Amino acid sequence: MSSLSVNHLLGIKNISKEDIDLIFATADNFKAVINRPIKKVPSLRDLTIANLFFENSTRTRLSFELAEKRLSADVVNFSASSSSVKKGETLVDTVNNILAMKVDMVVMRHPNPGACVFLSERVDARILNAGDGAHEHPTQALLDAYSIREKHGDVKGKKILIVGDILHSRVALSNIFCLQKLGAEVKVCGPTTLIPKYIESLGVKVENNLIKGLEWCDVANMLRIQLERQDIQFFPSLREYTMMYGLNQDILKGLGKKITIMHPGPINRGVEITSDIADSTDAIILGQVENGVAIRMAVLYLLAAKIKR
Ligand code: CP
Repeated sequence: MSSLSVNHLLGIKNISKEDIDLIFATADNFKAVINRPIKKVPSLRDLTIANLFFENSTRTRLSFELAEKRLSADVVNFSASSSSVKKGETLVDTVNNILAMKVDMVVMRHPNPGACVFLSERVDARILNAGDGAHEHPTQALLDAYSIREKHGDVKGKKILIVGDILHSRVALSNIFCLQKLGAEVKVCGPTTLIPKYIESLGVKVENNLIKGLEWCDVANMLRIQLERQDIQFFPSLREYTMMYGLNQDILKGLGKKITIMHPGPINRGVEITSDIADSTDAIILGQVENGVAIRMAVLYLLAAKIKR
């Protein structure tokens, strides 16, 4: 297979295992490129890409921008907080005005679930979802699975534990879809109030006990508590959350085996994970960030191939 089955990257749910394999094979080539002294290729030099961020971001925004520049695309950046959205302009009007300036692809992060699907049905450009509310964060899931493949040789057959605020996490949902398509076994772990009631219908098991979950897994992906998406209190206090679900060296040593520690960032050090673990050789957190550039180059390149030029 040499081309994606989709024209936009809106989520992992609607792409195939073959799409993921193609993205990984393409990312392997781009990872070699970004480790060369000259980190640039001319692949997208005729294209213009707009990065639309309606929500805060460090890793995803910079990673997409670097990926675009390393593919030689022209890049424009839009931040909602300093735009005419503040004067009441709609999302479709905003994007159509940007497209009128001859933009070919739009990378968008938005607080509303489904915003990227909505846009893809209304504007004439390739849309890449950079995180839409608590819905999906497809490139994060791809770079996470790619990092597991790099560390463990294959994702198939691996046992992955996703710990924390599953209810509000687009990373958890996209990871579940991606890891299952690649043949991994997935469990989620956290307080009952932060586990969606539908989760077992996705073929995922629930483990409320962190130690049991860690004893089971090969890889633990520690998620942040998303206080900004919580309008009611889901647990008594952050201190109690950390006592029940925070990962520290004593817990890791007690397992009597090595596991790989992942985190999508941003980390709340001392809440879901202690600094000594985040900075240890068991953690591949900065490797995930590094792989993010190669994965985003691959997705941009493969979607650009679908534009009629
Ligand atoms: N992992 C992630 O999406 O981080 P940012 O919010 O900084 O982009």
